[in-house]
Amino acid sequence: MSRPDAAQRVPLERLISSRSRSIDASGIRKVFDLAANLKDPINLSIGQPDFPVPEVMREAAANAVRENRSGYSVTQGIPELHAAIWKHLEKDVGWKGPTQDLGNIVTSGTSGGLLLSLMAVLDAGDEFIAPDPYFVMYPQIAKMIGAQCTLCDTYPDFRMTAERVEPLITPRTKAVLVNSPSNPCGTVMSGAEMRDLVDLCERRGVLLISDEIYDEFCFPDAREDGHCPSPARYTDQCLLIRGFGKTYGCTGWRLGYAAGPMPLVQEMAVLQGKPVDYYVCNDISIRLGKYVFHPSLDVMSMRTCLTTSNR
Ligand SMILES: Cc1ncc(COP(=O)(O)O)c(C=O)c1O
Repeated sequence: MSRPDAAQRVPLERLISSRSRSIDASGIRKVFDLAANLKDPINLSIGQPDFPVPEVMREAAANAVRENRSGYSVTQGIPELHAAIWKHLEKDVGWKGPTQDLGNIVTSGTSGGLLLSLMAVLDAGDEFIAPDPYFVMYPQIAKMIGAQCTLCDTYPDFRMTAERVEPLITPRTKAVLVNSPSNPCGTVMSGAEMRDLVDLCERRGVLLISDEIYDEFCFPDAREDGHCPSPARYTDQCLLIRGFGKTYGCTGWRLGYAAGPMPLVQEMAVLQGKPVDYYVCNDISIRLGKYVFHPSLDVMSMRTCLTTSNR
């Protein structure tokens, strides 16, 4: 059979799905184009920490390379990392796990946890509520999975309170996504506000998902009993999503985790195991399990550096 010449070929753009077309990257592109013509622009486009990855973690990654740890990683994460996460969660929010009811999963960055959790809960046409202003990914995930992201107007104080969320709940709402400390606002919800959200979600049978990627950068005046307020301190029926990229300056290593109700975590593991990611992240990152949260890691000084120089 003869091949059609270039002019006769069907344009491949015709094959792009409406799902993919619905993802709007044009705003970001416009900003990059504008910035390209500026002299010394300050790049606020992407949250890249300005401190180096702690030495012990770099050493561990280098050792993993030397040991040729270049194969598929374990879908749910390695035991050392799980153990370190549970130890940290017990200290931070009082969760003891794993149990029959409470599980965790290592994810491909915080984004991986967000995508898996929303995929695990929402069918096409279902809704979740997210704050406005919001981290750019939230409505995009909704488009990707055919769900609807209902934005909760938090102006002018940027607090996603239960009073603001409740009127937005419909029979199709399955999740409320809270982000504290917030990107882009920097707002930190109080413990009382978190408890009200927990009560609301439990009363209305909706899952509360808490994106806590910036938990370690909570300034002292917003902390309560030394901790960044989290709904997890009031219930173990919410889903916590956290990451290591911002905390340790290793955003490119794609390492995060989610913890919460076991049936949900199990579902996320199924999705991560096959259709979504196949395996969580590279085997080198995942080997850092022994080191994250390690007392020798200087998170305090990184936080102080942010507090004093960048605030
Ligand atoms: C609020 C929020 N959630 C999630 C993410 C994604 O983080 P990760 O790089 O761990 O996927 C970001 C990144 O900037 C963020 O600001």
